[in-house]
Amino acid sequence: MSVRYMQCNKSFLKEQEAAYGATAHIGREKPSRSKTMSKTIRFQVALAAVVLFAGTVSFAQSAGEATYKAKCQMCHGAKGMADTGAGKAMKVKPATNPEVKALSEEKMIDAVEKGTGKMQAYKGKLTDAEIKDAVSYFRTFSK
Ligand code: HEC
Repeated sequence: MSVRYMQCNKSFLKEQEAAYGATAHIGREKPSRSKTMSKTIRFQVALAAVVLFAGTVSFAQSAGEATYKAKCQMCHGAKGMADTGAGKAMKVKPATNPEVKALSEEKMIDAVEKGTGKMQAYKGKLTDAEIKDAVSYFRTFSK
């Protein structure tokens, strides 16, 4: 019985070594070896979880951020403060301006789609989703 158990355990360790490219330590050091092994596995699981979590978060944030940075930032500014050359020249209002803050998300989407003041219409140039996401991102600056 105990011999069988040993054999089984040995082949398990061999498999693990093959998978992780580790050197053989079967026999006396077995207990500490398997401890190290489970630590390694635990670390890898934790690392995978962190990577997955970070990936989800940054994906959710970047949908509108990327469009905003590429298409809107030169006039509305990195933080919506219209503190760029073009923003100042066109007298773009900062996102914190009461008039801008008073606009609903729908009104803002409408302004971007049809254009307002000196801002061109973006309908057809950007997809509806891109406009909506860029507006959502812009709205984070007025909070
Ligand atoms: C070439 C400069 C320019 C670019 C690029 C630009 N805007 Fe504008 N935007 C303006 C100007 C000018 C106004 C009108 C400001 C006014 O008359 O009060 C405006 C108005 C707006 C408004 C209405 C609220 C306000 O601030 O008056 C929103 C919302 C808006 N822009 C969002 C965007 C988004 C989202 C993008 C990118 C897809 C974008 N803008 C790109 C210049 C620009």
